[in-house]
Amino acid sequence: MEAGFRFAQLVETFRQQIEAGTLQAGERLPSVRSLSRERGVSLSTAFRAYYELEARGLVVARPQSGYYVRAWVRSEARAVPQPSQPQPQASPVSVSHALRTFAKGWVRPDLIDLSVAVPALSLLPQARLNKTVQETLRSLPDSGLNYEYSGGLPDLRRQVARHLALSGSLVEPDNVLITSGCLEAIGLALRAITKPGDAVAVESPTYYGILQVLERLGLCAYELPTHAETGPDLTALEQALTTQPIRAVVLTPSFSNPTGYAMPDAHKAQLATLLDRHGVPLVEDDIYGDLYFGKKRPRTIHSFCESGRVLLCGSVSKTLAPGYRVGWLASGRYHEAVQHARLMETIAPAPLVQAAVARFMQQGRYERHLRTLRATFQQHLLAYADAVRAAFPVGTRVSQPTGGFVLWVELPPGTLPVSALLEQALSQQITFFPGYLFSAQPQYANCLRIACGHPFTARYADGLRQLGQLAQP
Ligand SMILES: Cc1ncc(COP(=O)(O)O)c(C=O)c1O
Repeated sequence: MEAGFRFAQLVETFRQQIEAGTLQAGERLPSVRSLSRERGVSLSTAFRAYYELEARGLVVARPQSGYYVRAWVRSEARAVPQPSQPQPQASPVSVSHALRTFAKGWVRPDLIDLSVAVPALSLLPQARLNKTVQETLRSLPDSGLNYEYSGGLPDLRRQVARHLALSGSLVEPDNVLITSGCLEAIGLALRAITKPGDAVAVESPTYYGILQVLERLGLCAYELPTHAETGPDLTALEQALTTQPIRAVVLTPSFSNPTGYAMPDAHKAQLATLLDRHGVPLVEDDIYGDLYFGKKRPRTIHSFCESGRVLLCGSVSKTLAPGYRVGWLASGRYHEAVQHARLMETIAPAPLVQAAVARFMQQGRYERHLRTLRATFQQHLLAYADAVRAAFPVGTRVSQPTGGFVLWVELPPGTLPVSALLEQALSQQITFFPGYLFSAQPQYANCLRIACGHPFTARYADGLRQLGQLAQP
């Protein structure tokens, strides 16, 4: 029998057994070796079958132990958060006060931190990066002490342009501007294409940092109904573009924060056409795009838009070093306006970290590191989501992202508002981001975002169990 056929047959048999409950949640599957012996398949076919079941979210791998049926594969437990239904109106944004209040309780080393979306330090190639910085320092002509060209170091812009090609985005290094992280890129882009008082369409819920940028620039947010798996409703966007004076759109189409949705390619193509038809620019936040769990890097909307109307933003904050503050902006037809906006803000980004990141990328280390990180985050998300499903009240809905490392959790009616849940959680040294910070409108009081950047240790498992207990009605 052909190996591909055996593989498909194995996967299908396990899928049916798991979904029918013949194999139960938490049950251990045969070891790869026994599977190979019992079913007469090669070890590599047995491995592939388990990888496939894992990628489909049916089983989880536990290091040094084997493969187990996930806790929530039955269809009723698979519920993802409901599509959002924000008010169809442009609202002034005012999140900074709530964020400041929240942040007071948040930066404490003793916390079980489910709030900040950063990779744990243990997942970063710290020793290698330190070495790279030292080598870079020796090779920089003036030790990086001087102001640099304000667009960023040419070496890094070249490396970024090469990296972006993996997402289908072909950009000239000269069109890339190096920024202090992705949020600065978004701010510069919006400053270049809007003026205070303008309305900007955003997904809902949307990353609170984007709302802060809108607030700072005096822009209004027009929130779009958004599906937790496929993203904004494009019919609603088209209607808004037709009936409202929307000046720009800001989206995170690959593993958005907080819902983790991944926009299908067909929607991306449709969106690119829509932008051209209405002559409206899109700021595309692609910060999580490299953290995909599937076979292929998702394409950017930028790669579908030939008219240069997409301003593509990214950074190494979620993948390599949040503290380096290295990001980028490929600004298409708005390059001059963006450069002008840059000169009005920071003079130039710091050369030392730019040169170090360029060197790390140029040596092929970034892509290698990403390969490991993606697999790690996939395991984190599966483990965290299982723990939430096991501990939280019946009827809780949890996102199922296919990339990134945050979960969006919607509590069922009758549970504590998340503001009260957060207070109780903080008294037990647990923190998370409350849902209401992800909108300019009063909504998502029954939602929370859980960041899964830390390995799922016993401490984090306990934290989620306690949080689930606190959320019980
Ligand atoms: C969607 C999104 N965009 C931008 C940022 C900020 O990125 P940076 O730290 O590179 O400015 C974050 C960080 O949480 C994010 O989640």
